[in-house]
Amino acid sequence: MAVLTIAKMGHPILARIADPIEDPADPRWAALVEDMKETMADAGGVGLAAPQVEIGVQLVIFSVPSERSGDDGLPLSVLINPEITPLSEETAEGYEACLSVPGLAGIVPRWTHIRYRGLDLTGQVVEREARGFHARVVQHECDHLWGRLYISRMTDLSSLAYRDELARVAGVAVEEE
Ligand code: NI
Repeated sequence: MAVLTIAKMGHPILARIADPIEDPADPRWAALVEDMKETMADAGGVGLAAPQVEIGVQLVIFSVPSERSGDDGLPLSVLINPEITPLSEETAEGYEACLSVPGLAGIVPRWTHIRYRGLDLTGQVVEREARGFHARVVQHECDHLWGRLYISRMTDLSSLAYRDELARVAGVAVEEE
């Protein structure tokens, strides 16, 4: 296992559509996930997409902390070749921060209720409904696969802020993903 370098805004891989994975069970993807888990833990994030570690494939990992979901949360999940379907037109605004845009956070509108579908490392279909923070983290991570950073989803750039100031002045903690 290894802590990988995280690509930051300006790296072209973050602006490209990632390639679909043909064989999810290829052992190299399991090895990549182990390195991504270590990298995410080292950086203190809640989600990470393969392009963020300079691998341009459709693979993301994320977890849903129980304190953000109001229930037991979701242990670390792997999602390969994901698709998202909104189940409602409703969106909600919430702060997001990204390991590829270190130090900053901003308010992003996201669908509040989605279904997502992808594959796990054995090639089995993973299909879930998600709301709230769970829906938000999945939309943020999948955006990395379509070459989008959260800043390009913001509708009001005046909410862009430093995470440490949000925490210090407003008491708002925003996880990086
Ligand atoms: Ni991110």
